[in-house]
Amino acid sequence: MGTQQVLAQAPAKINLALRVGPLRPDGYHDLATVYQAIDLHDQVRATLRSDPVVSVETVDRAGGPVAGVSDDHHHLAVLAAQSLRARGGVTAGVHLHVRKNIPVAAGLAGGSADAAAALLACMELWGLGLDRAELLGLAAELGSDVPFALAGETALGAGRGEQVRPLTTGMATTWLLISSAPGLATPSVYTQTDRMREGSAVLQPQPPHLPDDLLAAVRSGEVTRLGPLLHNDLQPAALHLRPGLANVLAAGRAAGSIAGLVSGSGPSVLLLVADDAHADAVAGAVTPVARAALNDVQLRTVHGPVAGARLVSRPSGSD
Ligand code: C5P
Repeated sequence: MGTQQVLAQAPAKINLALRVGPLRPDGYHDLATVYQAIDLHDQVRATLRSDPVVSVETVDRAGGPVAGVSDDHHHLAVLAAQSLRARGGVTAGVHLHVRKNIPVAAGLAGGSADAAAALLACMELWGLGLDRAELLGLAAELGSDVPFALAGETALGAGRGEQVRPLTTGMATTWLLISSAPGLATPSVYTQTDRMREGSAVLQPQPPHLPDDLLAAVRSGEVTRLGPLLHNDLQPAALHLRPGLANVLAAGRAAGSIAGLVSGSGPSVLLLVADDAHADAVAGAVTPVARAALNDVQLRTVHGPVAGARLVSRPSGSD
């Protein structure tokens, strides 16, 4: 058999704003969010298997193992391939080689990126002609952030996050991204949010909604207008679970970043900056604080928005 291969990539996401409603009967929370895809990508190389097996191997940029990812049937890329295989009545299998650049359990939807890239790669490999709506439906079943990983750019998210509508904006953003370990499990951050809200006098609007001035700021493309409007309802819980994050946010403020917030369910911290030189200057001041407060700290300068999941190459047939 030829070793037909397809390579796909998908971006990490951040939330410029994340409003979380009360716990729903199904265990999820309604969201109102502005998603943005950033230039930090995972890659999935899908290789055809003649047997009916879906297998996976996950490596870091240097080809080494990745802590916190198990190469088994829980891997979101495997679940993506399996659901596509069932939907398409495919008899062949696939081996997925996942190269992770996106930190794991970091509030950046890295697992969702792997699922989105695996969907595109396997669709191409197996010659399946799903239309966009079918693909987005499959993606939504895999996880709340997977449809956005397919869509990319800047978008509004509703429902549990799976309902994605593109948002037209000329806004280009630059961030200093501070990641640390261990990751935070998304369900635990939502549960902690519910706990901290119990007994609080603040009523949660249902459904949650985004303020008009935020949407106007995003549409305007003016980053300095956006800064004070960045918001994350999961941030208090993330700070409660990982108190050192507050030191990093404070250091970012003191170092003159435009604004800062926890990314999604954390523990990544995003500091909004004017450009790469500003990111370097802020990094100089924040690094010692972050290293003292957190473990395995990594700093990266990232940019948004970027395109969603896409194929990097087509089947070659014989390499
Ligand atoms: O959709 P996904 O599988 O990524 O969600 C993981 C977990 O995060 C859910 O099981 C739930 O506990 C929590 N979650 C939530 N509300 C959302 C999205 C996720 O409570 N809108």
